[in-house]
Amino acid sequence: MALLEGKVALVTGAAGSIGSETALALAEQGARVVLTDLRAPELLAVTERLKSQGHDVVCKAGDITNEDDIRAVADFAAETFGGVDILDNNAGATGFSSRDLDIPDMPVELWDQVQSINARGPMLFCKYAIPSMLARGGGSIVNISSGQSLSGDVSNFAYAASKAAVNALTRHLATAYSPKGVRVNAIAAGLIIQPGMEQRLPAHIQDIFLSHCLVPRLGTPRDIANMVVFLASDLSSYVTGQILSVDGGFTAHLPSVADMRPIIDGMRKAPGQWS
Ligand SMILES: NC(=O)c1ccc[n+]([C@@H]2O[C@H](COP(=O)([O-])OP(=O)(O)OC[C@H]3O[C@@H](n4cnc5c(N)ncnc54)[C@H](O)[C@@H]3O)[C@@H](O)[C@H]2O)c1
Repeated sequence: MALLEGKVALVTGAAGSIGSETALALAEQGARVVLTDLRAPELLAVTERLKSQGHDVVCKAGDITNEDDIRAVADFAAETFGGVDILDNNAGATGFSSRDLDIPDMPVELWDQVQSINARGPMLFCKYAIPSMLARGGGSIVNISSGQSLSGDVSNFAYAASKAAVNALTRHLATAYSPKGVRVNAIAAGLIIQPGMEQRLPAHIQDIFLSHCLVPRLGTPRDIANMVVFLASDLSSYVTGQILSVDGGFTAHLPSVADMRPIIDGMRKAPGQWS
């Protein structure tokens, strides 16, 4: 039997690369899925594609920075499928990197917009999904965070801070609601590239990431979708309050490893010699 038969999932940012793949992966496991996103035409296109593959999916567009829109999406899920068992808080402020470069130059509107999409939005979806989950006997919330919330970096200040807020929200909600049957976890995603889109990332940037990934490839949307399916299903019934890295081991080791690897390899060949 499929892992999510009889469950209703709500996926935000479902027109995007990870969200659309996650909606598909949840539907493949038997979930009925409500897809939502700001970009209505792209959202409709993804929904129609999943429907044409035989999946029981519906969509409603909305802006995650607008509480009325979020309430409307939650109401739509209740009217269409009776409520929500799984919430994948995946929508994200992914288009701000070129301006999110430093704090002395930070436009405060940019900071507020990123927090509003990445932290306030997931909180509001939790606000409307949790009562439905409690009424249905439990549920699972999966928040899509980022490795940038776990370590320092030289850019993406607003983004990193917003994802760190999501991590704290995850642990607090897990603490409050797991005893009542609602598990809450986050995925700290590494660099994820849609297959076929690798050429959009310059080769030398890809090489930097690959030199630090213990699994020697870049991540794909399916890597994240598979973890969402696991966290949404009863396979993870003893997992809650966790920030789980899905990054090919990018954050699992000392930062010096990529530089030290050839030196230690040289020392294995010539013991006692620094190469
Ligand atoms: N791709 C990566 O390398 C990576 C790494 C770490 C974390 N993440 C996180 O994964 C999630 C999905 O990212 P992605 O790579 O699929 O990016 P994406 O840009 O393809 O998808 C993000 C989606 O969020 C939607 N969105 C943005 N603002 C919105 C708003 N105001 N209201 C409603 N929807 C809105 C966009 O329309 C888009 O479809 C994000 O939370 C992102 O921060 C991605």
